[in-house]
Amino acid sequence: MDFQLTEEQLMIQQAARDYAQRELIKDVIERDEKAIYPADHIRNLAELGFLGMLVDPKYDGGGMDTISYVLAMEEFSKVDSSIGVIISVNNSLVCYGLEQYGNEQQKETFLKPLARGEVTGAFLLSEPGAGSDATSQQTTAIDNGDHYLVNGVKNWITNGHTASPYLLIAQTDRAKGHRGINALIVDRHAKGISVGPHENKMGMRSSDTHSVQFTDVVVPKENRIGDDGFGFKFAMKTLEGGRIGIASQALGLASGAYELAVKYAKERKTFGQEIIKHQAIAFKLSDMATQIEAARFLCLKAAWLKDTGQPYGVASAMAKQYTADMAMRVTTEAVQVHGGYGYVKEYHVERLMRDAKLTQIYEGTSEIQKIVISRAIENDDI
Ligand code: CAA
Repeated sequence: MDFQLTEEQLMIQQAARDYAQRELIKDVIERDEKAIYPADHIRNLAELGFLGMLVDPKYDGGGMDTISYVLAMEEFSKVDSSIGVIISVNNSLVCYGLEQYGNEQQKETFLKPLARGEVTGAFLLSEPGAGSDATSQQTTAIDNGDHYLVNGVKNWITNGHTASPYLLIAQTDRAKGHRGINALIVDRHAKGISVGPHENKMGMRSSDTHSVQFTDVVVPKENRIGDDGFGFKFAMKTLEGGRIGIASQALGLASGAYELAVKYAKERKTFGQEIIKHQAIAFKLSDMATQIEAARFLCLKAAWLKDTGQPYGVASAMAKQYTADMAMRVTTEAVQVHGGYGYVKEYHVERLMRDAKLTQIYEGTSEIQKIVISRAIENDDI
């Protein structure tokens, strides 16, 4: 077992850290407050290769491994987890889905611009009545010979306004249940698509979250990913990798809050000494450090399994559930260490706490991860 990161992994981690600590930090409070989409930063990060970092260079990607992706996601999310989710959705859900399951023509047309970061993508699975219960798709993609005709509404779509293409999950044949679901590549500017208003969220406020309505939208047959009826499995397989991204985002939220709490505890004095010398605070920091380290190992283990071609669905569910729940605890404690200062925006930790809440909800709630893990236990898969 080798815990040593390679030179290349350390370089990628440093590049992400430098950008986050020098650039993202400058205007992150304003972006959060006014819910401003970080368009300039996304352009810069695309130039640095982070938007398609996992994609094979033959499709214009960075050819980096999943461990590097975990390291970079942690660094960005320490400062701005809205940037984290934009990068994660583009890399893990959209680029990975296309690279793994798309055909050569689809990769040429859609994957390459995504990998270069010229465009971003979105993953449209959730609906008003199909979040955790993802097989209950109401959006239909009716087979009309050479095209599908799409009708329905998708909810909570990250990159919903800015992205094109969309990867859309929709029901073609209801009689076949989840085996009648397809995954389609859809041009966001196609006739019949209307994007709802920006969701006014508690946290991750500068990520671009919208509902999207489809009214008689024509999608060419050649835009279907995989065989007819592959759409639900496509979504599940793709989410296995997505959950490593969101786990790493939660890791960054926790480690970012912890670093701020340590710094504050070394400066702030009460009862004649720095508060880090009070056992009540020292033990909080000790618990935070240990839990963050445990979560980091879960994230890196899931990434290593993926990089070495081994099954990683259960590992990614464990990483996501533990890290998201841990991030909620650790960011809340970081606010507590800061006392009153933790409750105002200038000290950053209140934002990290609000952002952490979403990691327990999207890409499968913590409860859904427990379903995945407990079914694996029942089937003797772990
Ligand atoms: N890989 C391959 N196939 C899988 C799979 C996996 N990981 N998980 C399930 N399947 C297959 C099953 O084998 C089954 O197929 P067969 O019948 O042919 O064998 C089929 O999918 C249905 O599986 P289940 O019977 O287990 O389905 P279920 O209704 O019990 O649901 C679930 C399973 C795990 C709860 C699933 O619905 C789920 O993951 N729900 C959460 C959805 C989710 O994560 N949504 C996030 C939205 S995306 C997002 O948030 C993006 C963003 O913008 C940030």
